[in-house]
Amino acid sequence: MSSVPTITLNDQVTIPQLGFGVWQVGNDEVVPAVAKALEVGYRHIDTAAAYQNEAGVGRAIRESGVARDDLFVTTKLWNSDHAAADARRAIERSLENLGLDHVDLYLIHWPAVKKYGDLYIEAWEAMHQFQAEGLTRSIGVSNFNVEHLDALTGTVPTVNQIEMHPTFTQASLRATLSERGIHPEAWSPLGQAKDLQNPVIAEIAKSLGKSPAQVIIRWHLQIGNIVIPKSVTPERIAENFDVFDFDLDPTQIDRINALDAGNRIGGDPATATF
Ligand SMILES: NC(=O)c1ccc[n+]([C@@H]2O[C@H](COP(=O)([O-])OP(=O)(O)OC[C@H]3O[C@@H](n4cnc5c(N)ncnc54)[C@H](OP(=O)(O)O)[C@@H]3O)[C@@H](O)[C@H]2O)c1
Repeated sequence: MSSVPTITLNDQVTIPQLGFGVWQVGNDEVVPAVAKALEVGYRHIDTAAAYQNEAGVGRAIRESGVARDDLFVTTKLWNSDHAAADARRAIERSLENLGLDHVDLYLIHWPAVKKYGDLYIEAWEAMHQFQAEGLTRSIGVSNFNVEHLDALTGTVPTVNQIEMHPTFTQASLRATLSERGIHPEAWSPLGQAKDLQNPVIAEIAKSLGKSPAQVIIRWHLQIGNIVIPKSVTPERIAENFDVFDFDLDPTQIDRINALDAGNRIGGDPATATF
């Protein structure tokens, strides 16, 4: 079985660099998807309270027989739960849904400034307590721009999970994260499949005898991103994990870096109203 590199985060917790995403996968459909992912070798699962599939993720984990210590499970705090007491209820509910006594990484899903102002700062303070109590091994953020990172007190987040794919590379925010010791984690790493159609990706894939998805995942890995592609299709789940027997050369990496076109798919953290 291929071996997935691990990244040591700024709190010394290690995370498998390639994980499995489960957004927009229902509680029933997620069970066979996570089962397949664990069977082919993924050991890192990315869910969220908002995905409403933590129970299915937990069921697949239990039925897999994979030892808890060999797994890395991330879940996320939803926007309406940023107040400290709500955040505590939220992590307790997530753990109960997952059937776990702790997660490995707990993220603030969005700063949600348009709807909840600076309440995300209170959530971040509360998360330190959750970590101290062992409810989560590591704490981080998602969809944070520099101004949101600047407002945090306490420890520096371990990761910032942000939208990143070849046509939306986030070069400037990645540079800031690197300076601050915050690891970049790519959501919608395939551009929700849109970037698979890109002619440059297709050409590189053809020249290597690999699929467009494998080329894009390889690009994320080689530029240092943690990457969490999603699929519910068994062949694709396996294909997306089969990325450790080839390298992109520096010219190919540069060509993909040059595809940035500002193609944001999801919300802009500065203006999102949810
Ligand atoms: N923090 C956040 O705010 C946030 C936001 C969005 C996503 N995320 C996380 O990031 C994960 C990944 O992002 P995402 O789900 O938006 O998009 P993605 O992983 O970029 O793309 C998923 C899409 O690509 C297709 N696909 C996957 N592998 C493929 C392959 N080898 N060949 C062809 N098509 C393929 C999937 O189809 P099938 O499933 O039909 O196979 C699905 O339509 C999420 O599941 C979630 O865990 C986090």
